Amino acid sequence: MTKIISTQYMQQTIDQAVCELKLGNAVAIPTETVYGLAADATNGEAVAKIFQLKNRPSFNPLICHVDGMMMAAKYGELNQTAEKLVEAFWPGPLTLVVPLSKSSDAHDLVTADLGTIGLRCPCGISQKIITQLGHPIAAPSANKSGRISPTSALHVANEFEETELLIIDGGPCAVGLESTILRIDGDTLTLLRPGAISAQQIEELTGLKVLSLDTNIQSKTKILAPGMMTSHYAPNANVLLNCKTCEADAAWLGFGCDNVDTALTLNLSKTGNLTEAASNLYAYLKKLDKAAIKTICVAPIPMHDLGIAINDRLKRAAAPRNKIIETAL
Ligand code: TXA
Ligand code: MG
Repeated sequence: MTKIISTQYMQQTIDQAVCELKLGNAVAIPTETVYGLAADATNGEAVAKIFQLKNRPSFNPLICHVDGMMMAAKYGELNQTAEKLVEAFWPGPLTLVVPLSKSSDAHDLVTADLGTIGLRCPCGISQKIITQLGHPIAAPSANKSGRISPTSALHVANEFEETELLIIDGGPCAVGLESTILRIDGDTLTLLRPGAISAQQIEELTGLKVLSLDTNIQSKTKILAPGMMTSHYAPNANVLLNCKTCEADAAWLGFGCDNVDTALTLNLSKTGNLTEAASNLYAYLKKLDKAAIKTICVAPIPMHDLGIAINDRLKRAAAPRNKIIETAL
């Protein structure tokens, strides 16, 4: 059985979470992006439990969540570019993949033995939990592998109904999409996953070009983002993208003032606000899925700002299931 606790008595909740983590148990934590399934990153058995709970392939590394620059520097090698990005965007929705530091005691399962580590500092109660634990926490999104990420405590509870799991309810996630992931390799920056921090913001701050996975030739021969399954964030229903009209018997997921009206219609943002759309995306896909329809038709979402990340997730939700992007594994 899952147990949901609120953050009303903040210190008590932090104590309870830290106690569970020290016992080697998983705890579901709220972050500004999506809910995470957290374990002490230095405890191999605890990290293994996360892979088991998620049915996650073990070649897929986990993001190591730290409480700030100091802890990050113990685990990853931060060059000047990394430090600039940390100062500007942490705590916040940016994950940096950097060379693994010699002083790291993160378990090999966290890094999948790639020689790099994904570091991120979350906002709010999760940052406080990490500080009190004194170790980073490894936390993938709190969903079964390949499924939609949870943006509320209830989503997590539904996903792990049968599991003994403490869930910390921090309310709905502000961003609603997973963090931007940026690989830093000297002066070469590669965007591994688009998110709320845009490539443009990163370029403006660092003065360096941000390559996409397609343009960085190296990414074709090296595993840069083993978690980049083509099919990911997938609802049960088939998803059709850039629809102008809705197919018969399908549900409609709209954006802006479209006039499509079917028996089952949800609108990501009637005013065409991409931030609102991002925060609603996963909750709405789950809602439509609950209605057990076969197909979800999605309106076109503009390809700028958060629209880039929304389209990235939608493309994966629409992809044939269980196909893995070609990487040299
Ligand atoms: O917003 C987020 O990032 C959420 C919250 C909970 O922090 N976490 C999250 O974790 O989305 P996850 O495991 O669902 O996605 C992390 C992605 C995976 O695709 C994984 O392959 C990639 O990050 N990743 C982690 N460490 C990496 C590394 N060292 N090199 C390349 N990719 C890495
Ligand atoms: Mg995930």
